[in-house]
Amino acid sequence: MNFELNDEQRMVRDTARDFANREIAPKAAELDKSERWPAEIIAKMAELGFLGMAIPTEYGGAGLDTMSYAIVMEEISAACASSGVIMSVNNSLFCDPVYKFGNEQQKQEILAPVASGQVLGCFGLTEPMSGSDAQTMATVAKKVDGGWVINGAKNWITNGPHAEYLIVFAITERAENGRVKHTAFLVKKGTAGFTQNPRDHKLGIKAAHSCTLFFQDCFVPDSAVVGNVGDGFKIAMATLDGGRIGIACQALGIARAALEAATAYAKERKSFGKPIAEHQAIQFMLADMATHLDAARLLTWRAAAMKDAKVRHSAESAQAKLYASEAATRITHKAIQIFGGYGYSTEYPVERHYRDARITEIYEGTSEIQRIVIAANLLKG
Ligand code: CAA
Repeated sequence: MNFELNDEQRMVRDTARDFANREIAPKAAELDKSERWPAEIIAKMAELGFLGMAIPTEYGGAGLDTMSYAIVMEEISAACASSGVIMSVNNSLFCDPVYKFGNEQQKQEILAPVASGQVLGCFGLTEPMSGSDAQTMATVAKKVDGGWVINGAKNWITNGPHAEYLIVFAITERAENGRVKHTAFLVKKGTAGFTQNPRDHKLGIKAAHSCTLFFQDCFVPDSAVVGNVGDGFKIAMATLDGGRIGIACQALGIARAALEAATAYAKERKSFGKPIAEHQAIQFMLADMATHLDAARLLTWRAAAMKDAKVRHSAESAQAKLYASEAATRITHKAIQIFGGYGYSTEYPVERHYRDARITEIYEGTSEIQRIVIAANLLKG
């Protein structure tokens, strides 16, 4: 596998890095503190084509590849992890499944405005009593004349308070042996019976709002079904294969920002008569952090390259997310150690990176779920 970036990918990276450094990074601390939704950053990301990066231009996207998406996700997340996940959910969890499984009408009427960033999308799989064991959801959709009636609730829905569209998964068939089948539906904000709670309050990624969504006798027409009736679970799983690449990139960005901050600080801060960077204890920490970061990036880019090659990449995405998220936690932890007392203070960015990193081990499948996916792949056949 050749990870040399081509001219287009280099240009996209430089554009993203410049935008992130100039327009996102200076606001990141304020966004975290105020928990403000970064509307102006999202608008600029839309203008740059970052909200539907791998979607063809005919459906409102930028017509680029997954590698470009991975590179941009890292740049945006290095500046602000909240902006990173808003971008990731729109690209990976909404645009990708609608492009892959949606019909022509859905692509033109719903995908196009979301991929171009005119409006946002979100993804409803998790429920209050069903997270890791996603098949056991309680949300049901019952067939009626001309459509379906959805009842249930979905929670931790990133972009939920602001999205115009949701792709939601519900049980549509329950066999006598207890086996269930799920179906994916597109629901528009404002549909009768579709409501939302106020936003959640979280440890990190505070500017990326999430909330619980409710369906009470919510009617959607037959045209809202994405893919085939009964294929919903597979659509959700295939979508997460891509989503986990996005979260691995978010972890890379957070970890890189922490490593850069710790390296710069180590060169400035003096103890025992010399910069702390000259102490081997600090050098070893920096060396380990850099090595974990590079290893995480290689795993992530491998998964992205496989997605671009249209090769099944469930296990590789799981490995990338598992390694990158755990590396981000370790790297941000060590960054605080290098900063010492100042690392614990909100005056410096590393405590934010530490809080932001933690979620990457949880959402889009916990580290334990990634290990289940990796082991299942290893043991099959
Ligand atoms: N692609 C396509 N099909 C797949 C698939 C994939 N990646 N993974 C599984 N399938 C298919 C299987 O082949 C199987 O098909 P058959 O019934 O035809 O044999 C079917 O789906 C069921 O598969 P499993 O038996 O493996 O399913 P399971 O119930 O054992 O669950 C799991 C597997 C990996 C644990 C899964 O439940 C899982 O990934 N859980 C975690 C859920 C998750 O990541 N949630 C995150 C929510 S999104 C989020 O966090 C949003 C946000 O806001 C950021």
